[in-house]
Amino acid sequence: MKILLLGSGGREHALALKLKAPAVDLVSAPGSDALAELGTCVPLNLEDPAAVAAWCARNRPDLVVAGPEVPLVAGVADAVRALGIPVFGHDAATARLEGSKSFAKAFMMRHAIPCAAGHTVTDLAAGEALIRSWSHGFPIVLKADGLAAGKGVVLATTEAEALATFRAFMAGQFGDASRTVVFEAPLVGMELSLHVLVDVDGEHASYALLPACQDHKRIFEGDQGPNTGGMGAFGPLPFLRPQDIECMRTVLVEPTVKGLRSDGLVGRGVLFLGVMWTARGPELLEYNVRFGDPETQVLMQLLDEDLAALLLEVAQGRLVSRELKLKPHTAIAVVLAAEDYPEGARKGVPITLGSPAVTVIHAGTRKENGQWLTNGGRVLNLATSAPDLAAARAAIEAALPQVTWPGRQVRRDIGLKALGHALAGRTVQDPW
Ligand code: AMP
Ligand code: GLY
Repeated sequence: MKILLLGSGGREHALALKLKAPAVDLVSAPGSDALAELGTCVPLNLEDPAAVAAWCARNRPDLVVAGPEVPLVAGVADAVRALGIPVFGHDAATARLEGSKSFAKAFMMRHAIPCAAGHTVTDLAAGEALIRSWSHGFPIVLKADGLAAGKGVVLATTEAEALATFRAFMAGQFGDASRTVVFEAPLVGMELSLHVLVDVDGEHASYALLPACQDHKRIFEGDQGPNTGGMGAFGPLPFLRPQDIECMRTVLVEPTVKGLRSDGLVGRGVLFLGVMWTARGPELLEYNVRFGDPETQVLMQLLDEDLAALLLEVAQGRLVSRELKLKPHTAIAVVLAAEDYPEGARKGVPITLGSPAVTVIHAGTRKENGQWLTNGGRVLNLATSAPDLAAARAAIEAALPQVTWPGRQVRRDIGLKALGHALAGRTVQDPW
């Protein structure tokens, strides 16, 4: 089976490691030096649907798997599917759930999916007036409507900060993506990532839940410092009970699947729901139309299925709603980041890569004369699974000295707060 995998980061390397099998011919675009060790790489521009489709027309892959959201929002899946080639990845119309915060908010409201109260603003004076009369409490959450490389959400703790952020957005801080702004009431609680494979088309509507994970977005331990793309994740959450999963299925997942159907949207991939478990129960922060990074690195440790076959089922509209086969383990992925991340990233630093007893996933590396070098903010992930979270954390601790370089940044507390919560006998209803 020839598979074209779109992307180049840690998420894609984790997918590639799972897809790789003797019968799989893996091509990554644009790929990376690490992905090149699992197959071949082609330098395609993922923002150009015609270019990706032209390559597919010539090379006829059996399956295209989209990693990031940008190609989906740009319409790559539409263009490739039009050739009759199965794509794991949503149409541009469905990708608006991630590509436009106002579209997503309207979808949530229309389908009675619990979420923060929100207002969409396209006018400077109207937004300033909204901030001055804000009645939902602080922080005021401001979201650039369009894709802003993960930097388009600001939690403003004062009126002055909200005004300054809003004016910068409207002045085009993220181009047209920030000239429409969604204001939201703050949600307080515990954040988690829920991934759902969705295969929805007309009368056919199937889905399969993946285990709930938790990401750690701040750069420093104890959730301090600036936001990053994610410094580590683990899953499943040890204190989430079966009834909690059922609750999310009932109030978030099923209305989403029904909503896609009733809006005439096609689902052919994964939806990653950003969830805040509040005192009122689970509420939806956002939709992503792709796998999370580093959540994917966790999920691939747990999934006990043939990934290529599973993604092809979704891509061909043959998914049967079911419980996925999973290892009865807890998995963890810890990010090793470059010096200066997230403000910048010191590149070209030689990496010492011993032989750790965990999975090494490449996110931002390149290879020169046989030596791996740092080449991005998030450089490597160490991932593993074990019978419980404490054992999984210990396995990563044991591996950390083996994989290092000057300036390496790593959070040693991935999963620690959740472990404490579980050991204290608390549930998701208790304060986080
Ligand atoms: P989003 O891209 O919408 O998920 O926002 C990025 C991050 O901002 C989320 O992962 C949350 O940590 C935070 N966030 C977004 N919306 C809210 C909200 N309404 N209340 C509190 N935090 C939020
Ligand atoms: N880990 C968060 C994300 O992928 O958006």
